[in-house]
Amino acid sequence: MEFKDIIMNRRSIRSYEDTPISDEDLKEILEAGTYAPSAVDLQPWYFVAVKSPEEMKKVYEVMGQVSDDCAPALRERFASFPQVAEESIKFIRMLGGAPVVILAFLNKPGLTKTDAPMVESVSAALENILLAATAKGIGSCWLTAPLQDSSNDSGKCWLTPAEEGSNSKALREAFAPDKGELVAIVTLGYPKMTPKAPKRKEGRYVII
Ligand SMILES: Cc1cc2nc3c(=O)[nH]c(=O)nc-3n(C[C@H](O)[C@H](O)[C@H](O)COP(=O)(O)O)c2cc1C
Repeated sequence: MEFKDIIMNRRSIRSYEDTPISDEDLKEILEAGTYAPSAVDLQPWYFVAVKSPEEMKKVYEVMGQVSDDCAPALRERFASFPQVAEESIKFIRMLGGAPVVILAFLNKPGLTKTDAPMVESVSAALENILLAATAKGIGSCWLTAPLQDSSNDSGKCWLTPAEEGSNSKALREAFAPDKGELVAIVTLGYPKMTPKAPKRKEGRYVII
């Protein structure tokens, strides 16, 4: 696939086929993540790719809580499009049946999300992962919904960087107890349905 097509064809996929992803593809996708740039070359990421049904059950357990916690903010955000809100709530719960979920953590407990370049570096790696997956015809969706928890009454579907919510803590304790905070999760799988690209907003860049 041409580079431009990879960029344009990447979509957030929220419904997946059961078809497994080969370990070879998964390794290449994760490896692409590790080739992202990072602040002072710290490479501050640690990825856990979950694919076994037993391990996936642990992810679903937390995501059920995440879905309940995110529901009010999503219903408010999409008040004019209730179907979008309900689909998002459902997606968060079962992750669209994705056969693989990548959990992205900071690689050390000492690194915190208030060290802005750390989150930026992990985010660069995540975008590489999304694009590498797209190039293989594999769909993905980046989620920060697990950063939400019921103790957050800000009305937003995320927490401010310094806080580790109870849901992201549960994922860290289950999958990477010796690592730093969860930054995001990414679903991977062959798309059941590919939505149209949301319209891009005008005036978001200038050339001077
Ligand atoms: C940092 C970040 C967090 C996101 N969190 C979520 C999420 O929790 N749930 C979800 O369904 N989509 C999430 N998304 C996907 C966005 O909703 C999506 O990128 C946006 O609607 C544009 O659609 P597109 O990715 O198909 O271009 C997230 C994307 C980013 C970059």
